[in-house]
Amino acid sequence: MNILLLGAGGREHALAWKIKQSPKTDKLYVAPGNAGTARVGENVPISATDFAALKQLVLEKNIEMVVVGPEDPLVKGVYDFFKNDEDLKNIPVIGPSQKGAQMEGSKEFAKAFMMRHNIPTARYLSVTKTNFSEGIAFLKTLKAPYVLKADGLAAGKGVLIINELDEAVKELNAMLNGSFGKASETVVIEEFLTGIECSVFVLTDGTNYKILPEAKDYKRIGEGDTGLNTGGMGAVSPVPFADKTFMKKVEERIVIPTVEGLKSEQIDYKGFIFLGLINVKGEPVVIEYNCRMGDPETEVVMLRIQSDLVDLLEGVAHGTLSEKELKVDTRNAVTVMLVSGGYPGDYEKGKKITGLDKVENSIVFHVGTAEKDGNIITGGGRVIAVSSYGTTKDEALKQSFENAQVIDFEGKYYRRDIGFDL
Ligand code: AMP
Ligand code: GLY
Repeated sequence: MNILLLGAGGREHALAWKIKQSPKTDKLYVAPGNAGTARVGENVPISATDFAALKQLVLEKNIEMVVVGPEDPLVKGVYDFFKNDEDLKNIPVIGPSQKGAQMEGSKEFAKAFMMRHNIPTARYLSVTKTNFSEGIAFLKTLKAPYVLKADGLAAGKGVLIINELDEAVKELNAMLNGSFGKASETVVIEEFLTGIECSVFVLTDGTNYKILPEAKDYKRIGEGDTGLNTGGMGAVSPVPFADKTFMKKVEERIVIPTVEGLKSEQIDYKGFIFLGLINVKGEPVVIEYNCRMGDPETEVVMLRIQSDLVDLLEGVAHGTLSEKELKVDTRNAVTVMLVSGGYPGDYEKGKKITGLDKVENSIVFHVGTAEKDGNIITGGGRVIAVSSYGTTKDEALKQSFENAQVIDFEGKYYRRDIGFDL
């Protein structure tokens, strides 16, 4: 079958790599893709949110399945666009409906959903200008630090963690007055939770589900988890503390009520559910939902899925996921992100990348790359994810770090302590 994958990052290169391994895949198109996906499939210069152009492409190339990488097209309703179009309605889109994507697109929606279905999450209050004083009163019931979240999508920057109460009140006021534009017209104030985080991924056809390998990502730019937040500097899977006991709690208290809750509310959801969890003294608590896979987590999760991903996705599309088998590689998988100097602040693009052909025993996923005059050049802050297997996490990391040295570009930086806290 011909498959179209939407997106342009490391997550998409990893998905493309896995999709391409399936004997069920004929042609793989990626819109818009990057220099890495161009080596696995055919890039098409169409934005993942240009639905009219996607329609034309799907019809022209006889595409039989669309896999959505990022949240943006989902929140904008790509699933519904296909479902409501006479010519496209029989082509499955892997990803939730616009309503389902609100699990990520609106923090308030996600929190209210968790309340309705008794899913463990931090205590919260949703605030707009009309109940600002209630918001202040709620902040006063909490202990520092204070967590303020813009309700809408804010490119991963919409969460503030503030130490002082008066500062939190000031920020709340600024947010409600548009410091994150429309995204912060509603703000979720949350109780701060202490613990170590991990990401759990669920694949669902709306009734049945499979829990994919869990992962932990490293968001801060600096070693020891210091400095500014980034799109992710590396990831590891498995996560030792996510043992059988912990995962049983995750399944019973979070996965089942989430899948059943979506179904009982008649929210179409055929795709990935990303649970951002925190381990509070052995108890899993939901920090956030995302309606897609994580990046850079996908760059390790795809390594650990042994089953044919396309076969699983067919199960998602046709409601037969329970008939499919998920086989997981017991080895450790890690990924180390090579980023541009200066990132996540200002950085330069267009630097020539060398050494890609000299990599041995790692899998290289392109995150932000482009092609120019036959060279591969940097095209973003995060550039290349170097993924490796190992019988232990440290063995896998050794492999990735070795290849992180082999690949080079001006200003290259990477964290040498991925997995340090596990
Ligand atoms: P989010 O966009 O909701 O994932 O939040 C971004 C990051 O903020 C999370 O990965 C956590 O590290 C942190 N965070 C969010 N909510 C809380 C909370 N209630 N308690 C502690 N940390 C939080
Ligand atoms: N790695 C976190 C995310 O994809 O949102």
